[in-house]
Amino acid sequence: MATVLITGSSRGLGLEFCKQYAAEGWQVLACCRNPERAGNLADISQVRIFPLDVSNFAQIDTLAAELQDTAIDVLINNAGVYGGTHCDFGQLDYTAWTQTLTVNTQAPVKMAEAFLPHLKRGDKKLLVSISSQMGSIADNGSGGSILYRTSKAALNAAMKSIAIDLRDQGIGVLVLHPGWVKTDMGGPNALIEAQQSVAGIRQVIAQFTLAQSGNFLKYDGSSLPW
Ligand SMILES: NC(=O)c1ccc[n+]([C@@H]2O[C@H](COP(=O)([O-])OP(=O)(O)OC[C@H]3O[C@@H](n4cnc5c(N)ncnc54)[C@H](OP(=O)(O)O)[C@@H]3O)[C@@H](O)[C@H]2O)c1
Repeated sequence: MATVLITGSSRGLGLEFCKQYAAEGWQVLACCRNPERAGNLADISQVRIFPLDVSNFAQIDTLAAELQDTAIDVLINNAGVYGGTHCDFGQLDYTAWTQTLTVNTQAPVKMAEAFLPHLKRGDKKLLVSISSQMGSIADNGSGGSILYRTSKAALNAAMKSIAIDLRDQGIGVLVLHPGWVKTDMGGPNALIEAQQSVAGIRQVIAQFTLAQSGNFLKYDGSSLPW
């Protein structure tokens, strides 16, 4: 049975990843900050739930040790934050910026370091980070959102390096934009449902080959500029 570990699985895209992978027969390791508040998660069979605040790096190490005998085929760095309302030039909240960088940039890298042995033991050997088109510098035509944009641009840069660093070990790395999705973060005016986004990403993951490692793709498999 293939195994996937998903961060930020309490709601939104993370919860949908858990539902779809469980329905497909995967073993799902669902990580979330407050399992007791992630009611829908407990209703899914084949899901093992683990408390994990990704900004708590000691907790990441503890979970990696707890799961040391577990092979992980796909690790999905999904947990993310937008950074709040003071995110435009002239009224920036620097404390929130630091927190946003911790969750969106450093935590996915820390997850990769802590769970590298588990990925090596898996068959698929794939590290996925849910980034955003808003992290694309080339695509930025509207400005603003400095906290979120920088955190995802830095995530992209880190994952590109990790893809190169781990290629010789057979570990693949993908950076994926899920689309503009109707979740708490995406809001009600977003263009697609979580179900469509996750179904697309699952297909991209299923078709992944090491030659694609280090790519920045949309949920439909098309390429994005850095
Ligand atoms: N929705 C979109 O349109 C869109 C577009 C581009 C990229 N994305 C990216 O897609 C990913 C998922 O977003 P979403 O739309 O599903 O957002 P969401 O509905 O706001 O859910 C965010 C998830 O991240 C978790 N999270 C936040 N901080 C965390 C932390 N410190 N430790 C552990 N979990 C934490 C939340 O857990 P709690 O329930 O505990 O708060 C929640 O499960 C994010 O990386 C986001 O940047 C989304």
